[in-house]
Amino acid sequence: MAMRGEILVAVTLLGASCARVQTKDRAAQAQPAATAAAAVDRGRALYAVVCAFCHGPDARGGETGPNLLHSELVLKDRDGDLITPIVQNGRPDKGMPKVEFTAAQVRDIAAFIHTFRVDGNERARMRPPSIVVGDARAGATYFASTCARCHSVDGDLKGIGAKFADAKALQMAWLMPRGREVLVTVTLGNERVLAGHLNHIDDFVVGLTTADGGRQTVRLSGSEKVVVRDPLQPHRDLLSRYTDRDIHDVTAYLAGIR
Ligand code: HEC
Ligand code: HEC
Repeated sequence: MAMRGEILVAVTLLGASCARVQTKDRAAQAQPAATAAAAVDRGRALYAVVCAFCHGPDARGGETGPNLLHSELVLKDRDGDLITPIVQNGRPDKGMPKVEFTAAQVRDIAAFIHTFRVDGNERARMRPPSIVVGDARAGATYFASTCARCHSVDGDLKGIGAKFADAKALQMAWLMPRGREVLVTVTLGNERVLAGHLNHIDDFVVGLTTADGGRQTVRLSGSEKVVVRDPLQPHRDLLSRYTDRDIHDVTAYLAGIR
């Protein structure tokens, strides 16, 4: 079986996502026009992968999600301020899943959704393709080049195609695997090291549960080194790289692994 890769995100004082948000804020101030266009592009890619299925490729409603252009909340949203909590918390009881995107990622998606406002033409509606068919062989090639360094269809993903009720569920499962614990190591000023599952992190404190089950809260003074390791970070990073085609192909391939 392939070695399970893990990415080390080294950060001092900040969680990985906070660090990313801050870098982007600075960039946005430096070059507004170019970064605005880049944000829309990134948002379009993320939207296509995660939101389009339910809300439609043009945000005018899809398989199960409502039209977002008619939404009061979306109309009032500024830079993702109202959309972010909906995406990050979801409304699980109403069919809107929680999606683990950073605030910066949702801001990009919001920028993309807001580009639709200028054009209210319902006749221009893009119809989602009614049948989604991927090419399993192309999916196998994609899997070999992108996924096989961490997974194997004879090992950890053995029988994956039979585990889900339908292709939709399988697709969500590989696009956004969920519920895994994030690990953290805190090296204190006196070289003492605390390691465990991350419960909480912000600019001031890190909360973790150590192997013996004890909960610790470390107040950050600036001299500690904090390393957050999220085993699913590679999946989050990949989300903006897949094309629609890749997604359908990989799903078709995995569906046949039984
Ligand atoms: C599995 C289907 C599904 C996916 C995937 C999904 N949504 Fe939703 N979404 C829904 C449903 C269903 C609702 C309506 C929930 C309700 O009735 O409160 C909703 C509601 C919303 C709302 C609130 C609209 C309002 O006026 O209250 C926003 C904003 C939203 N989704 C944005 C997104 C974004 C952005 C993404 C991608 C990151 C996304 N959704 C992914 C199904 C989905
Ligand atoms: C850098 C490593 C890495 C890469 C690359 C990667 N994954 Fe993963 N994947 C993981 C980790 C770690 C998990 C969490 C697994 C666990 O905790 O058991 C995971 C979870 C999954 C799951 C959920 C498994 C389950 O039983 O619920 C699926 C399906 C999956 N990945 C498919 C893929 C596919 C398809 C690709 C390529 C498009 C891919 N992964 C790329 C590391 C990776």
